[in-house]
Amino acid sequence: MFDEYGFPGAEGSGHAEQTLEMFVYCSRAAEGVDDAEVGRIITFSQARNVARGITGVLVFGSGVFFQWVEGPPAEVEILIADLHRDTRHFDIVTLDRGIEKRERLYPNWEMELVEAEDIRAVLQDALDSAEDENNAAALKRILAHIDSAPLPLLGRG
Ligand SMILES: Cc1cc2nc3c(=O)[nH]c(=O)nc-3n(C[C@H](O)[C@H](O)[C@H](O)COP(=O)(O)O)c2cc1C
Repeated sequence: MFDEYGFPGAEGSGHAEQTLEMFVYCSRAAEGVDDAEVGRIITFSQARNVARGITGVLVFGSGVFFQWVEGPPAEVEILIADLHRDTRHFDIVTLDRGIEKRERLYPNWEMELVEAEDIRAVLQDALDSAEDENNAAALKRILAHIDSAPLPLLGRG
């Protein structure tokens, strides 16, 4: 599905090791950003991410976003700059970021919207099926972060 540079192609599969940049962050939704606006973000993102070889998950709950993005480093860096300019969210906190040769965690998700109460299970599933040591290590760090600061609490105040 994706070639060794992370782009979709005829050869290879989504499970092959690729040079990928991972960017994981949380942020607070701006005033007026509701489920309908999040729906528009998802529709836009799915169309654009597929063209850029980017996959991942977006969680929205209690006014807080949590997003896992993975893809070719050059494309992910453009997206990171776009995200920092986007006024629909603020207080972006990077939880994990790195360039590694590894498998995609979410090879079939152009950007999947996941309910906040399900994020722990989604990450735990990914950890349980992760064969890649770097992925497993990153997931353990993120699960520890979620357990130390539950997402609904991050959204208050
Ligand atoms: C929480 C959140 C997640 C987003 N995720 C993506 C994404 O996965 N892919 C994407 O292309 N744009 C995403 N966007 C939209 C970008 O921030 C930006 O608006 C979009 O890339 C268009 O940027 P441009 O108009 O400056 O080119 C997201 C926005 C928000 C607020």
